[in-house]
Amino acid sequence: MTSQTTPRHFLRDDDLTAAEQALVLQRALELKAAPFSRRPLEGPRTVSVVFDKPTLRTQVSFAGAITGLGGHPLVVDGNLAQIGSRESIDDTARILGRQSAAIVWRTHGQDRIEEMAAHAGVPVVNALTDDFHPCQILADLLTVLEHKGSLAGLTLGYVGDGANNMAHSYLLGCALAGLHVRIGTPDAHQPSPAILARATEIAAAQGGSVLVTDDPSATVDGVDVVVTDTWVSMGMEGEKGDRQGAQSPFVPFAVTEALMASAATDAIFLHCLPAYRGFEVEAAVIDGPQSVVWDEAENRLHAQKALLSFLLEGA
Ligand code: NVA
Repeated sequence: MTSQTTPRHFLRDDDLTAAEQALVLQRALELKAAPFSRRPLEGPRTVSVVFDKPTLRTQVSFAGAITGLGGHPLVVDGNLAQIGSRESIDDTARILGRQSAAIVWRTHGQDRIEEMAAHAGVPVVNALTDDFHPCQILADLLTVLEHKGSLAGLTLGYVGDGANNMAHSYLLGCALAGLHVRIGTPDAHQPSPAILARATEIAAAQGGSVLVTDDPSATVDGVDVVVTDTWVSMGMEGEKGDRQGAQSPFVPFAVTEALMASAATDAIFLHCLPAYRGFEVEAAVIDGPQSVVWDEAENRLHAQKALLSFLLEGA
């Protein structure tokens, strides 16, 4: 059966409006308090969860979220499926869409997930692409909301690789939530100009702001939330020596205790994980009192459950 209505997808952070993002975060708080209160996948209906890249948190949290909503998570190994080579993306989309209530996909290019969404006939969710990691940002915003009580007007400073999926999703997702977003990154690793322009436009509408700088101290100075990410994203393993070596341009952007001390005294530290202690973050920070990374990791479950509920059931 194909769906009669046009499905909603979540391929990038700004596929939700600001009001919808706020609704999803509120629903996540409700589902965290009452985990089995919404059952849109009762049956159980299958959700296909496909991984073309490694995973731990994303697999476990989507499996838990789908099960909690009454459904059955079917995890598909992308190495077996070989989407786009053994079988075209649009044929795969039609096949999965006929047999799944939704499709969750971690893959490489954003163009791949856009093609999946164009032909699936059911909601498609981005579980990380080279360009965006929007589910992680929902979990991060939920964590900030829990620890700070509100979002709009807070300042978040991200230091590290400014051109990766996390930086791009912080730009869009935090701008939507009305935060002031600062990206501190070497000149050669600036965010995509198109994504930066879109984030600037959203920030202007939501009362926040966007700043990109090559000064790590200016990025973190006085902020409420300090974040970083690995310098070697999945698919960049060949550049590991350059990116993590002593001469790496990212070295000044490591979250050391000294850098953390320039944030607000009650600042929290976030990291999407996996973390590489001694590279992008010192152990004393990620394992220290300001770190909320385990809340953040748990919140993947609640945020994704709320997102799936929104995409399947609406407001
Ligand atoms: N930027 C990282 C995020 C991991 C969750 C990567 O793409 O590997």
